[in-house]
Amino acid sequence: MPAAGSGVRLGAGLPKAFVELDGRTMLERAVAGLLGSGVVDDVVAVVPDDRVDESRELLAPLGVDGHVVVVTTGGAERTDSVRHGLAALTTAHVAPGSDAAAQGSGTAGYDVLLVHDAARCLTPADPIRRVVEAVRAGEVAVVPVVPVVDTVKQVDASGHVVGTPDRAALRAVQTPQGFAPHVLLAAYDAAGEVATDDAGLVERLGHRVATVDGDPLAFKVTTGEDRLRAEIHLASERSLADGPQSISFGWRPYRPEPGSEPPPDPEENP
Ligand code: CTP
Ligand code: MG
Repeated sequence: MPAAGSGVRLGAGLPKAFVELDGRTMLERAVAGLLGSGVVDDVVAVVPDDRVDESRELLAPLGVDGHVVVVTTGGAERTDSVRHGLAALTTAHVAPGSDAAAQGSGTAGYDVLLVHDAARCLTPADPIRRVVEAVRAGEVAVVPVVPVVDTVKQVDASGHVVGTPDRAALRAVQTPQGFAPHVLLAAYDAAGEVATDDAGLVERLGHRVATVDGDPLAFKVTTGEDRLRAEIHLASERSLADGPQSISFGWRPYRPEPGSEPPPDPEENP
């Protein structure tokens, strides 16, 4: 899980993965989401150099029930960070006593490797499971995708339109992306340059990349608007869990005194 970016576009004044959403960092949410999917055993979190100890502390409570959570440092670009994560995985940070440890290789015990952005910290379990299932069913590379809602234009250097791809054939790509371990490792070995999309590296080696349905909630928290969207989602989830007293986003929370009138009917007072 690359989580070593600085979050320039979010502009929160600290690395994005350490920004809290409803009291919990994106890093914790993203790791907990993977482990909670039921199909992920271990996680390597790749974080900024000066946040290793903090990350270990944050993530320690998640390394239970046989899960191993390893923290390592990132690099200048996302590609470098993923590479560092793969290196940590292949240099023996694996579950003690696991097949992988016995065979001396960090990836030997795993049948699937996922690469997931910490910034997609609300990703639900279902798309994670779909990706893993597709790799287990024999695909060597799998990406979760969603339809593209806007028409997309291809433009030249001067900004003039040179083409309009058929929108029906376009998909926006999310994470986690899933891979047969040897294929992902080979792709990173071969990649000299920067790629924003891990599957793109695999495509360049000539492998077929399969798609499964992604999920709107797997959106990437990039800007302040995305953060607001994430906070609204979490606030509405919490209010569903707690009852109407906790609805509290962008308007004054309604907190009735015990024994007071019931809340106003939203139909009468929209
Ligand atoms: N990432 C990383 N190492 C980098 C750059 C990015 O591990 N050198 C991670 C981010 O932490 C994030 C994911 O890659 O989880 C996707 O990157 P992005 O959304 O672009 O995050 P940032 O690079 O942090 O944001 P920005 O580009 O706005 O600075
Ligand atoms: Mg970035």
